[in-house]
Amino acid sequence: MQTSEYWDNIYRSKRFDAVSWYAPHLGESLRLIEQLCPDKTGAIADIGGGESTLVDDLLSRGYEDLAVLDISAAAIDFTRHRLGPNAQRVRWHVGDVTQHDFGSKQFDVWHDRAVFHFLTDAAARQAYVNLVRAAVKPGGYVLMATFGPDGPAKCSGLDVVRYDDQRLHGEFGHGFEMLGRQMAEHHTPMGTSQQFLYCWFRLND
Ligand SMILES: C[S@@+](CC[C@H](N)C(=O)[O-])C[C@H]1O[C@@H](n2cnc3c(N)ncnc32)[C@H](O)[C@@H]1O
Repeated sequence: MQTSEYWDNIYRSKRFDAVSWYAPHLGESLRLIEQLCPDKTGAIADIGGGESTLVDDLLSRGYEDLAVLDISAAAIDFTRHRLGPNAQRVRWHVGDVTQHDFGSKQFDVWHDRAVFHFLTDAAARQAYVNLVRAAVKPGGYVLMATFGPDGPAKCSGLDVVRYDDQRLHGEFGHGFEMLGRQMAEHHTPMGTSQQFLYCWFRLND
């Protein structure tokens, strides 16, 4: 179940650096975002950004048009508080990505680390992809990081779907050109290792 209460409870009961997905900086994501969108005026959405420091790092690199969406108000509050006055430079959205509407806003880069893989229901995945089609500019980029084929079968007590690049590409369907992919090992604060797949697509015009 993808309830806000579930995620709020996780964020309220654990320190920001004690959750399994914690990393001081999302190095792979940052590198790929800068590569895909060197223009600092480009619009970037971090989907399920949680308490990650990606938004801090994008701001400090000069990105001007940032949005963070998360189902957990507790996580969004924490991140806004950490950023202090700089939080005003970001658009914050509390909501479920499978039901969200960004209105007329469209992004140059859609970034998701460790959110899509929680969607075990095909209808939820379809709703997600429908939102990507609506909210990413034609010619814009979709940067996804999911658990890889040898990654964990569960995270935070929830089942996940593990992806290789072909399976992930298959979820997005026609119109999404796969530009690249790579595997990465995430080292959790608990001392374990998790296989992630990073995959990036261009939404054809
Ligand atoms: C494993 S954490 C990853 C957080 C962050 N992306 C990172 O890499 O540090 C998953 C995040 O997705 C959020 N989330 C889960 N389901 C969601 C949904 N349906 N819509 C929006 N956010 C969701 C959770 O609240 C949580 O912050």
